[in-house]
Amino acid sequence: MTDARQRALDGFRHAFGRAPGAAAFAPGRVNLIGDHTDYAGGLAMPMALGAGCVAAVGRADAGVRAVAVDMGESFETQTRSDPAAWPGWARYAIGSASLALDAAGASGVGLTIAVASDVPMGGGLSSSAALEVAVVSAVGMLAGVPIDPMDIARMAQRAEHEFAGVPCGLLDQMASVFARAEHAMIIDFADFSVRHIPIPDAASFLIVDTGVRHDNASGAYAALRERAARARAALGVEHLGRADGGSFGALPADGRAVAEHVVSECARVRAFAAAVTGGQLELAGAILDDGHASLVHRLGTSPPEVEAVVGRVRRAPGVLGCRLTGAGFGGSVVALTQDPGRAAAVLEGLGVRRADPGGGCRAVPFTS
Ligand code: GLA
Repeated sequence: MTDARQRALDGFRHAFGRAPGAAAFAPGRVNLIGDHTDYAGGLAMPMALGAGCVAAVGRADAGVRAVAVDMGESFETQTRSDPAAWPGWARYAIGSASLALDAAGASGVGLTIAVASDVPMGGGLSSSAALEVAVVSAVGMLAGVPIDPMDIARMAQRAEHEFAGVPCGLLDQMASVFARAEHAMIIDFADFSVRHIPIPDAASFLIVDTGVRHDNASGAYAALRERAARARAALGVEHLGRADGGSFGALPADGRAVAEHVVSECARVRAFAAAVTGGQLELAGAILDDGHASLVHRLGTSPPEVEAVVGRVRRAPGVLGCRLTGAGFGGSVVALTQDPGRAAAVLEGLGVRRADPGGGCRAVPFTS
Protein backbone atom coordinates (compact mmCIF):
# COMPACT_ATOMS: atom_id res chain seq x y z
CA MET A 1 0.00 0.00 0.00
CA THR A 2 1.21 3.54 -0.69
CA ASP A 3 1.79 5.81 2.29
CA ALA A 4 -0.80 8.17 3.75
CA ARG A 5 0.68 11.16 1.90
CA GLN A 6 0.30 9.55 -1.50
CA ARG A 7 -3.17 8.19 -0.73
CA ALA A 8 -4.42 11.57 0.53
CA LEU A 9 -3.02 13.48 -2.47
CA ASP A 10 -4.26 10.91 -5.00
CA GLY A 11 -7.61 10.71 -3.21
CA PHE A 12 -7.99 14.48 -3.32
CA ARG A 13 -7.32 14.63 -7.07
CA HIS A 14 -9.60 11.73 -7.74
CA ALA A 15 -12.50 13.18 -5.71
CA PHE A 16 -12.20 16.83 -6.68
CA GLY A 17 -10.46 16.74 -10.07
CA ARG A 18 -7.63 19.09 -9.13
CA ALA A 19 -4.63 19.50 -6.85
CA PRO A 20 -5.13 20.58 -3.21
CA GLY A 21 -4.25 24.08 -2.03
CA ALA A 22 -2.44 22.81 1.08
CA ALA A 23 -1.59 19.51 2.77
CA ALA A 24 -0.29 18.61 6.22
CA PHE A 25 0.94 15.53 8.08
CA ALA A 26 0.38 14.92 11.78
CA PRO A 27 1.73 11.88 13.64
CA GLY A 28 0.02 9.44 15.96
CA ARG A 29 1.72 8.83 19.30
CA VAL A 30 2.55 6.18 21.80
CA ASN A 31 2.44 7.32 25.39
CA LEU A 32 5.46 5.70 27.04
CA ILE A 33 4.22 6.51 30.55
CA GLY A 34 1.93 9.04 32.26
CA ASP A 35 -1.65 8.03 31.47
CA HIS A 36 -4.80 9.60 32.88
CA THR A 37 -2.66 12.46 34.15
CA ASP A 38 -3.22 15.12 31.47
CA TYR A 39 -6.70 16.14 32.60
CA ALA A 40 -5.42 16.15 36.21
CA GLY A 41 -2.58 18.65 35.72
CA GLY A 42 0.07 15.90 35.86
CA LEU A 43 2.97 14.69 33.70
CA ALA A 44 3.06 12.44 30.64
CA MET A 45 5.85 11.18 28.39
CA PRO A 46 4.59 10.55 24.85
CA MET A 47 6.62 9.87 21.72
CA ALA A 48 5.31 10.54 18.23
CA LEU A 49 5.22 7.75 15.68
CA GLY A 50 6.54 7.85 12.14
CA ALA A 51 2.99 6.90 11.12
CA GLY A 52 0.37 9.63 10.94
CA CYS A 53 -2.51 11.20 9.09
CA VAL A 54 -2.31 13.41 6.01
CA ALA A 55 -5.01 15.98 5.24
CA ALA A 56 -5.15 17.61 1.80
CA VAL A 57 -7.47 20.62 1.55
CA GLY A 58 -8.69 23.06 -1.09
CA ARG A 59 -11.14 25.92 -1.43
CA ALA A 60 -14.71 25.44 -2.63
CA ASP A 61 -17.66 27.77 -3.18
CA ALA A 62 -19.63 26.82 -0.09
CA GLY A 63 -20.05 24.03 2.48
CA VAL A 64 -17.59 21.20 3.04
CA ARG A 65 -17.01 18.08 0.97
CA ALA A 66 -14.82 15.57 2.79
CA VAL A 67 -13.40 12.21 1.68
CA ALA A 68 -12.01 9.49 3.97
CA VAL A 69 -9.80 7.89 1.34
CA ASP A 70 -9.00 4.69 3.27
CA MET A 71 -12.67 4.01 4.06
CA GLY A 72 -13.88 4.84 0.57
CA GLU A 73 -16.44 7.23 2.12
CA SER A 74 -17.35 10.80 1.36
CA PHE A 75 -19.62 13.28 3.11
CA GLU A 76 -20.92 16.74 2.27
CA THR A 77 -22.46 19.27 4.64
CA GLN A 78 -22.57 22.84 5.86
CA THR A 79 -20.11 23.40 8.74
CA ARG A 80 -22.98 24.75 10.84
CA SER A 81 -25.25 21.70 10.49
CA ASP A 82 -25.72 19.33 13.47
CA PRO A 83 -22.62 17.08 13.83
CA ALA A 84 -24.74 14.38 15.51
CA ALA A 85 -25.96 13.51 12.00
CA TRP A 86 -22.42 13.25 10.53
CA PRO A 87 -20.44 10.00 10.25
CA GLY A 88 -17.88 9.60 13.07
CA TRP A 89 -14.77 10.36 11.00
CA ALA A 90 -16.43 13.48 9.56
CA ARG A 91 -17.02 14.91 13.04
CA TYR A 92 -13.26 14.96 13.60
CA ALA A 93 -12.37 16.15 10.10
CA ILE A 94 -15.09 18.75 9.51
CA GLY A 95 -15.20 19.84 13.16
CA SER A 96 -11.46 20.58 13.06
CA ALA A 97 -11.76 22.33 9.71
CA SER A 98 -14.58 24.59 10.83
CA LEU A 99 -12.75 25.64 14.02
CA ALA A 100 -9.62 26.41 11.97
CA LEU A 101 -11.66 28.43 9.45
CA ASP A 102 -13.21 30.42 12.30
CA ALA A 103 -9.76 31.10 13.77
CA ALA A 104 -8.51 32.28 10.38
CA GLY A 105 -11.49 34.64 10.07
CA ALA A 106 -12.65 32.66 7.03
CA SER A 107 -15.84 31.03 8.35
CA GLY A 108 -17.76 31.56 5.12
CA VAL A 109 -15.16 29.81 2.91
CA GLY A 110 -16.13 26.46 1.35
CA LEU A 111 -13.70 23.54 1.64
CA THR A 112 -12.77 20.25 0.06
CA ILE A 113 -10.87 17.79 2.28
CA ALA A 114 -9.27 14.38 1.68
CA VAL A 115 -7.72 12.45 4.57
CA ALA A 116 -5.70 9.23 4.74
CA SER A 117 -4.00 7.71 7.76
CA ASP A 118 -1.44 5.07 8.70
CA VAL A 119 -2.51 5.10 12.37
CA PRO A 120 -4.90 2.23 13.20
CA MET A 121 -8.28 3.44 14.47
CA GLY A 122 -9.16 2.55 18.07
CA GLY A 123 -5.65 1.19 18.65
CA GLY A 124 -4.77 3.65 21.43
CA LEU A 125 -2.28 5.46 19.19
CA SER A 126 -4.20 8.73 18.76
CA SER A 127 -5.60 8.24 15.30
CA SER A 128 -8.20 10.92 16.06
CA ALA A 129 -5.69 13.52 17.30
CA ALA A 130 -3.54 12.91 14.21
CA LEU A 131 -6.59 13.55 12.03
CA GLU A 132 -7.60 16.70 13.91
CA VAL A 133 -4.10 18.19 13.99
CA ALA A 134 -3.50 17.43 10.30
CA VAL A 135 -6.77 19.11 9.29
CA VAL A 136 -6.31 22.18 11.51
CA SER A 137 -2.73 22.64 10.23
CA ALA A 138 -3.70 22.19 6.59
CA VAL A 139 -6.64 24.62 6.82
CA GLY A 140 -4.39 27.21 8.51
CA MET A 141 -1.91 26.85 5.64
CA LEU A 142 -4.67 27.14 3.05
CA ALA A 143 -6.01 30.30 4.67
CA GLY A 144 -2.48 31.72 4.78
CA VAL A 145 -2.85 32.43 8.49
CA PRO A 146 -0.12 30.88 10.64
CA ILE A 147 -1.69 29.24 13.70
CA ASP A 148 0.36 29.16 16.90
CA PRO A 149 1.30 25.50 17.66
CA MET A 150 -0.40 25.51 21.07
CA ASP A 151 -3.54 26.90 19.42
CA ILE A 152 -3.43 24.05 16.88
CA ALA A 153 -3.41 21.56 19.77
CA ARG A 154 -6.23 23.37 21.58
CA MET A 155 -8.37 23.64 18.45
CA ALA A 156 -7.88 19.93 17.78
CA GLN A 157 -8.95 19.18 21.36
CA ARG A 158 -12.01 21.42 20.97
CA ALA A 159 -13.00 19.53 17.83
CA GLU A 160 -12.94 16.32 19.87
CA HIS A 161 -14.99 17.86 22.70
CA GLU A 162 -17.51 19.81 20.65
CA PHE A 163 -17.98 17.66 17.55
CA ALA A 164 -17.09 14.10 18.65
CA GLY A 165 -18.29 14.35 22.26
CA VAL A 166 -15.06 12.97 23.76
CA PRO A 167 -13.87 14.95 26.84
CA CYS A 168 -10.17 14.25 26.18
CA GLY A 169 -7.18 16.05 27.69
CA LEU A 170 -4.41 17.60 25.60
CA LEU A 171 -1.90 14.73 25.64
CA ASP A 172 -2.52 13.39 22.15
CA GLN A 173 -2.85 16.72 20.39
CA MET A 174 0.23 18.24 22.05
CA ALA A 175 2.28 15.12 21.30
CA SER A 176 1.29 15.34 17.64
CA VAL A 177 2.10 19.05 17.39
CA PHE A 178 5.31 19.32 19.44
CA ALA A 179 7.07 16.03 18.61
CA ARG A 180 10.71 15.97 17.59
CA ALA A 181 12.39 13.10 15.67
CA GLU A 182 14.44 10.68 17.83
CA HIS A 183 12.93 12.16 21.00
CA ALA A 184 10.10 11.54 23.40
CA MET A 185 8.84 14.47 25.44
CA ILE A 186 7.67 15.22 28.94
CA ILE A 187 4.60 17.42 29.01
CA ASP A 188 3.66 19.11 32.27
CA PHE A 189 -0.08 19.71 32.13
CA ALA A 190 0.02 22.15 35.03
CA ASP A 191 1.66 24.74 32.75
CA PHE A 192 1.68 22.95 29.34
CA SER A 193 5.47 23.11 29.11
CA VAL A 194 7.26 20.58 26.89
CA ARG A 195 10.74 19.12 27.44
CA HIS A 196 12.16 16.90 24.70
CA ILE A 197 13.90 13.75 25.91
CA PRO A 198 16.44 12.01 23.64
CA ILE A 199 15.89 8.27 23.31
CA PRO A 200 19.19 6.35 23.29
CA ASP A 201 19.77 3.84 20.48
CA ALA A 202 19.91 0.97 22.97
CA ALA A 203 16.26 1.48 23.98
CA SER A 204 13.61 0.21 21.56
CA PHE A 205 9.90 0.33 22.03
CA LEU A 206 7.48 -2.16 20.55
CA ILE A 207 3.80 -1.46 20.24
CA VAL A 208 1.57 -4.51 20.45
CA ASP A 209 -2.06 -4.24 19.42
CA THR A 210 -4.27 -6.04 21.96
CA GLY A 211 -6.95 -6.49 19.31
CA VAL A 212 -9.46 -5.08 21.84
CA ARG A 213 -11.02 -1.95 20.35
CA HIS A 214 -11.85 0.95 22.59
CA ASP A 215 -13.96 4.02 22.07
CA ASN A 216 -13.35 7.06 24.25
CA ALA A 217 -16.87 8.30 23.51
CA SER A 218 -18.30 5.26 25.30
CA GLY A 219 -18.39 6.80 28.79
CA ALA A 220 -15.73 4.91 30.77
CA TYR A 221 -13.11 7.56 29.95
CA ALA A 222 -15.44 10.40 30.95
CA ALA A 223 -16.27 8.59 34.20
CA LEU A 224 -12.57 8.44 35.12
CA ARG A 225 -12.19 12.08 34.30
CA GLU A 226 -15.10 12.94 36.59
CA ARG A 227 -13.59 10.86 39.40
CA ALA A 228 -10.39 12.89 39.10
CA ALA A 229 -12.34 16.17 39.09
CA ARG A 230 -14.25 15.18 42.24
CA ALA A 231 -11.01 14.21 44.02
CA ARG A 232 -9.45 17.51 43.01
CA ALA A 233 -12.45 19.47 44.31
CA ALA A 234 -12.50 17.50 47.58
CA LEU A 235 -8.79 18.19 48.13
CA GLY A 236 -9.18 21.82 47.10
CA VAL A 237 -6.15 21.66 44.76
CA GLU A 238 -5.83 23.05 41.26
CA HIS A 239 -3.72 20.17 39.93
CA LEU A 240 -4.09 16.65 41.26
CA GLY A 241 -0.61 15.97 39.90
CA ARG A 242 0.82 18.33 42.50
CA ALA A 243 -1.37 17.27 45.44
CA ASP A 244 0.12 16.12 48.74
CA GLY A 245 -0.39 12.37 49.20
CA GLY A 246 -0.71 12.90 52.98
CA SER A 247 -4.18 14.39 52.50
CA PHE A 248 -5.66 11.49 50.49
CA GLY A 249 -6.96 9.62 53.56
CA ALA A 250 -9.98 11.95 53.64
CA LEU A 251 -11.10 10.93 50.13
CA PRO A 252 -13.63 8.19 49.35
CA ALA A 253 -11.98 4.99 48.07
CA ASP A 254 -12.51 5.68 44.34
CA GLY A 255 -11.19 9.25 44.69
CA ARG A 256 -8.19 8.10 46.69
CA ALA A 257 -7.33 5.49 44.06
CA VAL A 258 -7.39 8.03 41.24
CA ALA A 259 -5.40 10.60 43.26
CA GLU A 260 -2.81 7.98 44.19
CA HIS A 261 -2.58 6.93 40.58
CA VAL A 262 -1.95 10.49 39.35
CA VAL A 263 0.64 11.37 41.99
CA SER A 264 2.52 8.07 41.69
CA GLU A 265 2.33 8.19 37.87
CA CYS A 266 3.95 11.64 37.83
CA ALA A 267 6.80 10.27 39.95
CA ARG A 268 7.09 7.36 37.52
CA VAL A 269 7.32 9.73 34.53
CA ARG A 270 10.31 11.49 36.11
CA ALA A 271 11.97 8.25 37.20
CA PHE A 272 11.39 6.59 33.83
CA ALA A 273 12.88 9.50 31.86
CA ALA A 274 15.94 9.52 34.14
CA ALA A 275 16.38 5.74 33.83
CA VAL A 276 16.04 5.68 30.02
CA THR A 277 18.37 8.61 29.39
CA GLY A 278 20.83 7.22 31.96
CA GLY A 279 20.91 3.84 30.20
CA GLN A 280 19.34 1.99 33.18
CA LEU A 281 16.96 0.07 30.98
CA GLU A 282 16.11 -2.73 33.42
CA LEU A 283 15.00 -0.11 35.92
CA ALA A 284 13.04 1.69 33.20
CA GLY A 285 11.27 -1.59 32.34
CA ALA A 286 10.35 -2.17 35.99
CA ILE A 287 8.83 1.34 36.12
CA LEU A 288 6.65 0.51 33.11
CA ASP A 289 5.44 -2.62 34.91
CA ASP A 290 4.64 -0.56 38.04
CA GLY A 291 2.72 1.93 35.91
CA HIS A 292 0.66 -0.87 34.43
CA ALA A 293 -0.12 -2.24 37.90
CA SER A 294 -1.47 1.19 38.89
CA LEU A 295 -3.76 1.21 35.82
CA VAL A 296 -5.03 -2.25 36.73
CA HIS A 297 -5.51 -1.82 40.47
CA ARG A 298 -6.34 1.85 40.84
CA LEU A 299 -8.12 2.73 37.58
CA GLY A 300 -9.38 -0.61 36.28
CA THR A 301 -8.60 0.24 32.66
CA SER A 302 -7.20 -3.17 31.68
CA PRO A 303 -9.88 -5.79 30.96
CA PRO A 304 -8.96 -9.52 31.13
CA GLU A 305 -8.40 -9.83 27.35
CA VAL A 306 -5.82 -7.03 27.59
CA GLU A 307 -4.20 -8.64 30.66
CA ALA A 308 -3.72 -11.81 28.63
CA VAL A 309 -1.78 -9.85 25.98
CA VAL A 310 0.25 -8.01 28.64
CA GLY A 311 1.23 -11.40 30.09
CA ARG A 312 2.34 -12.70 26.69
CA VAL A 313 4.35 -9.56 25.96
CA ARG A 314 6.08 -9.74 29.37
CA ARG A 315 7.14 -13.32 28.74
CA ALA A 316 8.64 -12.50 25.32
CA PRO A 317 12.45 -12.77 25.33
CA GLY A 318 14.24 -9.47 25.79
CA VAL A 319 11.19 -7.53 27.02
CA LEU A 320 12.21 -5.45 30.06
CA GLY A 321 8.74 -4.14 30.95
CA CYS A 322 5.44 -3.17 29.39
CA ARG A 323 2.23 -1.31 30.03
CA LEU A 324 -1.07 -0.46 28.45
CA THR A 325 -0.80 2.88 26.66
CA GLY A 326 -3.35 5.66 26.19
CA ALA A 327 -6.89 5.67 27.50
CA GLY A 328 -6.93 1.89 27.99
CA PHE A 329 -9.95 -0.44 28.00
CA GLY A 330 -8.25 -1.95 24.93
CA GLY A 331 -5.91 -0.47 22.34
CA SER A 332 -2.19 -1.13 22.52
CA VAL A 333 0.56 -2.18 24.90
CA VAL A 334 4.01 -0.54 24.79
CA ALA A 335 7.06 -2.64 25.66
CA LEU A 336 10.69 -1.67 26.26
CA THR A 337 13.33 -3.98 24.86
CA GLN A 338 16.95 -3.99 23.82
CA ASP A 339 16.31 -6.68 21.27
CA PRO A 340 13.17 -5.79 19.30
CA GLY A 341 13.71 -8.46 16.63
CA ARG A 342 13.70 -11.34 19.13
CA ALA A 343 10.65 -10.11 21.01
CA ALA A 344 8.71 -9.31 17.83
CA ALA A 345 9.42 -12.79 16.42
CA VAL A 346 7.64 -14.57 19.28
CA LEU A 347 4.77 -12.09 19.33
CA GLU A 348 4.00 -12.60 15.66
CA GLY A 349 0.30 -12.67 14.98
CA LEU A 350 -0.44 -9.99 17.58
CA GLY A 351 0.11 -6.93 15.37
CA VAL A 352 3.52 -5.70 16.52
CA ARG A 353 5.12 -2.52 15.30
CA ARG A 354 8.35 -0.82 16.21
CA ALA A 355 7.90 2.71 17.62
CA ASP A 356 10.14 4.92 15.52
CA PRO A 357 10.11 8.40 17.06
CA GLY A 358 9.13 10.70 14.21
CA GLY A 359 8.72 14.48 14.10
CA GLY A 360 5.64 16.64 14.73
CA CYS A 361 3.00 18.02 12.38
CA ARG A 362 4.31 19.66 9.25
CA ALA A 363 3.46 20.75 5.71
CA VAL A 364 3.42 18.02 3.08
CA PRO A 365 4.90 18.78 -0.34
CA PHE A 366 2.62 18.31 -3.36
CA THR A 367 2.61 19.38 -6.98
CA SER A 368 -0.12 21.75 -8.05
C1 GLA B 1 -6.74 9.46 25.70
C2 GLA B 1 -7.05 10.95 25.80
C3 GLA B 1 -5.86 11.71 26.42
C4 GLA B 1 -5.39 11.08 27.71
C5 GLA B 1 -5.23 9.56 27.54
C6 GLA B 1 -4.92 8.85 28.85
O1 GLA B 1 -5.72 9.22 24.79
O2 GLA B 1 -7.33 11.47 24.54
O3 GLA B 1 -6.22 13.06 26.62
O4 GLA B 1 -6.24 11.39 28.78
O5 GLA B 1 -6.37 8.96 26.98
O6 GLA B 1 -3.67 9.23 29.30
